[in-house]
Amino acid sequence: MDCCQCQGIEGFFNEREAARSLKKYRRDGPARSTRVLLDALRASPVEGATLLDIGGGIGAIPLDLLSVGVTSATDVDASSAYIAAARAEAARQGFGDRMAYQHGNFVALAPTIAPADIVTLDRVICCYHDVHALVQASASKARRLYGLVYPRDSWFSGALSAVANTLFRLRKNPFRIFAHRTSTIDSLLRNAGLERRFQRNVGLWRVAIYARP
Ligand SMILES: C[S@@+](CC[C@H](N)C(=O)[O-])C[C@H]1O[C@@H](n2cnc3c(N)ncnc32)[C@H](O)[C@@H]1O
Repeated sequence: MDCCQCQGIEGFFNEREAARSLKKYRRDGPARSTRVLLDALRASPVEGATLLDIGGGIGAIPLDLLSVGVTSATDVDASSAYIAAARAEAARQGFGDRMAYQHGNFVALAPTIAPADIVTLDRVICCYHDVHALVQASASKARRLYGLVYPRDSWFSGALSAVANTLFRLRKNPFRIFAHRTSTIDSLLRNAGLERRFQRNVGLWRVAIYARP
C-alpha cells in the first residue's frame, strides 16, 4: 500500500491480532462502544438499507445489521488479516453472499467505492493520520446515516497516544495512533452536509451518529 501508516496498519493488525479479536467477539459479542453505535443506528429504520463499513475489523457491525434487515454490506479494510477473519466469520454466520470486501486504504480507493445508505467507521479515525481526507471521503459516501466511534477529547487520550507512539517509534514500528479533535471531525461532517443526531461517551470513546437531512 502507498502510505507509511498503511504499512504500519498491515503489520499491527496482523493475523495474530485478527485471531485475538475474533476469539473475543465470539466469546463476548461486539465491544461496548460498538453496541452503543449499533443501538443508535437501529433506532432509525435500517431494513432494506445498504452498508459501507470502513475499517470493519472482524465485521461486528455488518454481522449485526445484516441480521436485522440491511440487504448488503461492503467492508473496506487496510488489513488483509482482518479481511480474511471477517470473511470467514461472515461465511460461518451464513452472511457470506451478502458481503463484499475490498483490501486497501479507503482514502485511495474512495473513487471506486459506491455510496451506501449507512456508512460506519468504528475506532478507525484514530488509526489514520489524515483526518480531513478520511472523513471527507467517507462522508461523501453516506446517503442517509454516518456512524462513528473515535477517542473523545481528553488529556488522557492525548497522553495515551503520545506514550504509545513513543513506544512504536522506539521499536521502529511505523504504526501510529491519532487523537483527532472532536471539533475537527464535527466541522468536517457538517461541511459535508450531515447533521449530528446522537452522541454519547463510552469510556475513552465518543459514539456519534450523523444524518443527511
Ligand atoms: C482499531 S481497528 C477497529 C476494527 C473494528 N472497526 C472494531 O471496532 O473492532 C481499526 C481498523 O481500521 C482499519 N483502517 C484504518 N485506517 C484505514 C484506512 N485508511 N482504510 C481502510 N481501513 C483502515 C484497520 O485496518 C483496522 O481494521
